[in-house]
Amino acid sequence: MRIGFIGFGKMGKAIAKGLKKKVLVYDPNFTVDGIKAKPVDSIKKLLSGSDVVILAVKPQVMDGILEEIRKNETKGKTFISIAAGISIPKIEQCVKGGVIRAMPNIACAVGEGAIALSKGESAEEGDLKIAIEIMENTGKVFVIEEKYMDLVTAYTGAAPAYFALLVKFFYENASLFGLDPVLSKQLMLQTAKGTAKLLEEYEPEQIIKMVATPGGITEQGLKVLEDSRETIKKVLEKGMAKTRELG
Ligand SMILES: NC(=O)c1ccc[n+]([C@@H]2O[C@H](COP(=O)([O-])OP(=O)(O)OC[C@H]3O[C@@H](n4cnc5c(N)ncnc54)[C@H](OP(=O)(O)O)[C@@H]3O)[C@@H](O)[C@H]2O)c1
Repeated sequence: MRIGFIGFGKMGKAIAKGLKKKVLVYDPNFTVDGIKAKPVDSIKKLLSGSDVVILAVKPQVMDGILEEIRKNETKGKTFISIAAGISIPKIEQCVKGGVIRAMPNIACAVGEGAIALSKGESAEEGDLKIAIEIMENTGKVFVIEEKYMDLVTAYTGAAPAYFALLVKFFYENASLFGLDPVLSKQLMLQTAKGTAKLLEEYEPEQIIKMVATPGGITEQGLKVLEDSRETIKKVLEKGMAKTRELG
C-alpha cells in the first residue's frame, strides 16, 4: 500500500513518523526531519504514486487542493482528510475514491494520539479498515459519526494545547511563590505524567477522593477550580464555532 501526503507539516509528519515506511509527499515547503519520505513536485505525481492519500494541509488551502485533485484520476484510492472543519461531502464532490475524515491530535507524534475517524458515503468498509490500520500506528482510534467531528476537533484535536497551558500556568505560578523555576517545571511535568497513568486505572472522582481530605488543603484548590466548569464549556463552544467557520 503506497501512502502519499498532501501537506507535510506538524501533523503530516507526526502521522508519517508512526508508519515506519517510506511515504510520498507533496508540500512546496518540504523538509524531511529524519522521516523516510520522497518529495514530488505536483499533486498529479502524488496521486499517481499513492493508493492512500492523506490530506494534511490547513483548512484554508483545501479548496485549491481539492480543485487540483478533481482534475486527476482518483477512482479506487482512499482519501483520509485531517483538515479541521472540512466536511466529507465537500471532499466527495472532488474525488471518486473513498473518503474518511479524521481528527487526530499532536500526541500522534509520540505514538499516543487520540484519533477519531468517520466514514463517508463514498467509502467502503475497506477504506475505513485502511484508515484504522494507518492511524493505529500513532495512537488509539475511535470511529464516530461525522456530525460529532466539529466537537471532537475543538475537544481532543485541540486538547494537548489546553493541558499544556494548564501545566504551564501551574509551574509558572509556583515559581512566582519562590520555587526554583526549573524545579517547579520538573515537579509539575512528573505530576502530569503520573496523573495520566493514574487516569488509566481510576475514575477522576476516585483520584480526587484519594487526594482530597474533607476540609483539607486540596479541597481549597478544588473549590476554586470548580468555577472553571463553565470556562471549559466555553472553550468547546468557541472551538466548535471556529471549526464550522473553516468549513
Ligand atoms: N497541529 C495539530 O495539532 C492538529 C491536530 C489535528 C488536526 N490538525 C489538522 O492538520 C492539518 C495540518 O495542520 P498542521 O498543524 O500540520 O499544519 P502545518 O504544520 O502548517 O502543515 C501544513 C503543511 O502544508 C503545507 N502547505 C501549504 N500549502 C500547501 C499546498 N498548497 N500544497 C501542499 N502543501 C501545502 C505547509 O507549508 P507552509 O508552511 O509553507 O504553508 C505545511 O508544511 C490542518 O488541516 C489541521 O486542521 C492539526
